[in-house]
Amino acid sequence: MNYKIKNICCIGAGFVGGPSMAVIASKCPNINVTVVDINEKRIEAWNDKNLSNLPIYEPGLDVLIKKCRDKNLFFKTNIEQAIFEADMIFLSVNTPTKQTGVGAGQALDLRWVEASARQISKFSTGNTIVVEKSTLPVRTAETVKSILISNKDSLDKKNMPNSKSFSVLSNPEFLAEGTSINDLENPDRVLIGGDDLKAIEALENIYLNWVEPQKILKTNLWSSELSKLTANAFLAQRISSINSISAICESTGADISDVAEAVGMDNRIGSNFLKAGPGFGGSCFKKDILNLVYLSNYYGLEEVASYWEKILDINNWQQKRISEIIVHKLFGTLSNKCIGILGFAFKANTNDTRESPAINICRDLIEEGAKLKIYDPKVNNLQIDMDLKNACISSNVEYSSDSWLVEDNLYKTANNSDALVVLTEWEEFANINWHEISCIMRSPSWLFDTRGITNKYIAKKNNINIWQVGV
Ligand code: NAD
Ligand code: UDX
Repeated sequence: MNYKIKNICCIGAGFVGGPSMAVIASKCPNINVTVVDINEKRIEAWNDKNLSNLPIYEPGLDVLIKKCRDKNLFFKTNIEQAIFEADMIFLSVNTPTKQTGVGAGQALDLRWVEASARQISKFSTGNTIVVEKSTLPVRTAETVKSILISNKDSLDKKNMPNSKSFSVLSNPEFLAEGTSINDLENPDRVLIGGDDLKAIEALENIYLNWVEPQKILKTNLWSSELSKLTANAFLAQRISSINSISAICESTGADISDVAEAVGMDNRIGSNFLKAGPGFGGSCFKKDILNLVYLSNYYGLEEVASYWEKILDINNWQQKRISEIIVHKLFGTLSNKCIGILGFAFKANTNDTRESPAINICRDLIEEGAKLKIYDPKVNNLQIDMDLKNACISSNVEYSSDSWLVEDNLYKTANNSDALVVLTEWEEFANINWHEISCIMRSPSWLFDTRGITNKYIAKKNNINIWQVGV
């Protein structure tokens, strides 16, 4: 079957659906791209005239939205219509960890994938290519296929006219938040898994508008699905490895940035992803490793499961270790102490706080009786309030209305604080004027730099005590 792709629909207008479709629309002016979501507020925000109100912050995204929106890129809530018109449908819905039932706490919750597949099955027409862009457990394409054809079967049984057909491809997304647009425009590779050669060719032709052919890797469905989980597990493993060594540095006088440089200069190892910090966050690593653990156990591979589980254990330990260091350095108690938190997003250049190490570290400090002042350049107050309330409630930590206050700048945050804790590596925090800051903090003042980005010599000169990760 030859496919002609004129209309693309993407189900899910989140951190992946939004940026990835903006790049396709920008690179393929002859294709109409419609991004749909059940979340009306999110769609409204994507359509906001004021580009600083887009639902996600991502450098360079506003330029693409300005260029393509309402020309060949549309954000809509009418999912049925978009499915009906589409030749190719991307599934970019969320796949969080299951909270209840079989596999709770480890397996991915596929209810949103299933719901989308059911809608596609019902409302699509003609030959439709369904592309899994969400990160999915290996062999999910089998489930997606069976749901897609279920409606076709029921039409067959009723002898009703039925001209639908589907081809399922796996095309996992490797973008990282904060650098999404660059990652999408200049990918290391594009992975397409499938068994329908014509459908693969149709998707490949879209990417060929801007990606070199040798970067497009084609595999079977299962290798593609498993490669995505594996890539995330390997990346997370590097961070837990370097964070474990950061603790050894702190005990021995070695410096983690020297060790990372020396290790990373080995071609076989490479220099990326060796930055020690407060532990990895983000919506993907934890859930994808948990899923790998679940899959390993499911296939009876218990040693494999416990190997990958350890990466998560070290990540939790690193966060706990940091909050304990803060308590210890501040004379063993935080009650009546004011601590300024610099950064709440899980990394710089994003407003995403999902699984941010800041959440657990702040919760631990609140439990110790600290009053927090929190500043992040891009995360809004409501998000911080919601994250901290949920974290306190789920771990039975008592909090009150003055346990934390969200500030809108660095100076208000530092004013009368006993300590500052850098939790996100925003550039603004690498360039702090320590002379000015030292004058407004309470003394003795402390700086806890969990990202190793501040100028510790200048801070020290201004009588600030310093703890930096891995030093
Ligand atoms: P997200 O939560 O930001 O966005 C998902 C969107 O899908 C939400 O807006 C939700 O309302 C919508 N949705 C859910 N069910 C729907 C339905 N039936 N119909 C219409 N809309 C529906 O999630 P995300 O961060 O964009 O991640 C999406 C997928 O991509 C996940 O599987 C994730 O693992 C994977 N991924 C994420 C990243 C990342 O950096 N965030 C990178 C690569 C891959
Ligand atoms: C990750 C993967 O990188 C991406 O390929 C995948 O598609 C989605 O998940 P993301 O979570 O957006 O992307 O960010 P990433 O840059 O991977 O950072 C994850 C976490 O690791 C962040 O909390 C970051 O601060 C931390 N990190 C990263 C470190 O602590 N040290 C490093 O050297 C790199």
